[in-house]
Amino acid sequence: MTLAELDKLQADSLMEVANAADAETLEKVRIRYLGRNGVVPAIMKQMKEVAAADRPVFGKNVNQWRKEIETAIAAKGTEVSKAPSNKVLFDCSLPGRWHTPGARHPVSRVIEESAAIFARLGFSVADGPDIENRFNNFTALNTPAHHPSMDESDTFWMGGDQLLRTQTSPVQIRMMTSHKPPVRIITPGRTYRRDTTDATHSANFHQIEGLYVDTEPVSLADLKATLAYYAREMMGSEAGVRFRPHFFPFTEPSVEVDFSCHVCRGQGCRVCKMSGWIEIAGAGMVDPRVYEFVGYDPAKVFGFAFGFGVERIAMIKYGIPDIRWLYENDVRFLAQMR
Ligand code: DAH
Repeated sequence: MTLAELDKLQADSLMEVANAADAETLEKVRIRYLGRNGVVPAIMKQMKEVAAADRPVFGKNVNQWRKEIETAIAAKGTEVSKAPSNKVLFDCSLPGRWHTPGARHPVSRVIEESAAIFARLGFSVADGPDIENRFNNFTALNTPAHHPSMDESDTFWMGGDQLLRTQTSPVQIRMMTSHKPPVRIITPGRTYRRDTTDATHSANFHQIEGLYVDTEPVSLADLKATLAYYAREMMGSEAGVRFRPHFFPFTEPSVEVDFSCHVCRGQGCRVCKMSGWIEIAGAGMVDPRVYEFVGYDPAKVFGFAFGFGVERIAMIKYGIPDIRWLYENDVRFLAQMR
């Protein structure tokens, strides 16, 4: 080692002491230079390799250096012990970290909110498979064998009597064949139809089915009260419902259910096509033929059923003009659901 190299080492070591921000770092610097296997003792041991002429100066410099580090470390030690620990210090002028949390998908939101609303009326959630059979999806729902909904052009048949369910109504059948009344369920789930996709149609969508069957009298008024409660909870306290006579094979009488338009409050606007009402659900009193199919005695049970599209509720509630936006997974759309 030369005198020049020693000079450089000396300067570096003092710089390291000066830069030590906390006691822990300072101790590491001390051990590195002054420790038993440190840099300074190692250099002392190599003294005989230094040119004989340089040796006295070299020795003096090393000793002086050792004292300098000791003094510097002692001074720095009092400084860092006074400073608050580096670990709890935080710079409030730094820009914050940007978190981008995910959001519930509108379809999931409607399903979860609906389940919570119906739960307050005593409905629990029941589930059924997407792949159904002809009996549950059509026959037991009193759908005549020649009904057009069973056509290849409307239903995805999978071979034999297997099909992708076209509605959540088959869960009614599963529920009633396996449980005695009272039965009070909603069944959210996927449904499939051979529809050409456009702004309001999709081959795969979601429905929520409702079923209430009891051995105590249940009337159309109970159905209306149930859906009116749902409308108010979902669309706002001023929402109203109206029934229009309709036909479904599995209910008698059957109705179509409209909610008053929440955008114009019934005044007439583009959303409700100037009518003040928006068509939401199909519903009715469970047809006696259905009770026969599931093994209930039609003379002893009373009940209503309803079914509606989840996407439709989501589109109306959140002002989504195109059903395809719900499936494209464009983050610019999804981020708005936060
Ligand atoms: N399943 C019917 C559909 O997909 C909707 C429906 C209408 C369900 C009347 C019902 C009901 O439970 O009673 O169009």
